[in-house]
Amino acid sequence: MASPELAPLAVEFGDIHAQNIGLLRKLNESTFPVRYADKFYGEIPTLQTDFAQFAYFGGFAIGAICGRLEPADGDASGKRLYIMTIGVLHAYRRRGVGRKLLDYLMDNAAKRDDVRVVYLHVQTNNDAALDFYARHGFEKVGKIEGYYKRIEPPDCYLLGKVVNAPAGATVGGLLEGALDIANKRP
Ligand SMILES: CC(C)(COP(=O)(O)OP(=O)(O)OC[C@H]1O[C@@H](n2cnc3c(N)ncnc32)[C@H](O)[C@@H]1OP(=O)(O)O)[C@@H](O)C(=O)NCCC(=O)NCCS
Repeated sequence: MASPELAPLAVEFGDIHAQNIGLLRKLNESTFPVRYADKFYGEIPTLQTDFAQFAYFGGFAIGAICGRLEPADGDASGKRLYIMTIGVLHAYRRRGVGRKLLDYLMDNAAKRDDVRVVYLHVQTNNDAALDFYARHGFEKVGKIEGYYKRIEPPDCYLLGKVVNAPAGATVGGLLEGALDIANKRP
């Protein structure tokens, strides 16, 4: 008999700030194959709460998303939104938590006229994340070889989704600079 599907989890959201950053560090260490440097955690409290949140279940942080607004290429008034991390503890996956975190960020991005595109990097062998983002309408823009320094494979895909961009704009065009810079990294 097939096992019954687990019901979606009713999570609550909460801001990430300097006082609870240790929680994010613990969560990330249980979720990602890379260890983020202190510089990464130093930046998190500066992120807008529209794009950075914990997901709590039963009072425990079980997931988080962190997104950073950046200037858009060749567009003085435009922005692009970079998803630095999104992660859900293993035991709570496939219960809609990742979707809720991503929807929160995407809905807040869509409310702003200046956010042209949302983008991120995913390791080429991370099928779960690639399926997750494909399901949410993200497209592969390119492959960046040697992006990661201490994990195998070291390559990633750049994925993106258009938000509020002029008619005819493509995700590839909006992220040309991001791909170009990454490919020229020493
Ligand atoms: C990617 C991640 C955040 C998804 O979180 P999640 O809470 O499990 O995602 P959801 O339950 O909201 O999934 C939404 C949809 O995405 C797709 N999806 C998610 N995980 C999947 C998997 N392992 N395999 C195939 N499809 C998957 C499915 O279509 C799913 O809908 P369904 O369960 O109704 O079929 C989670 O797997 C994770 O934390 N991975 C480790 C960290 C990571 O790689 N982050 C991404 C790079 S920053």
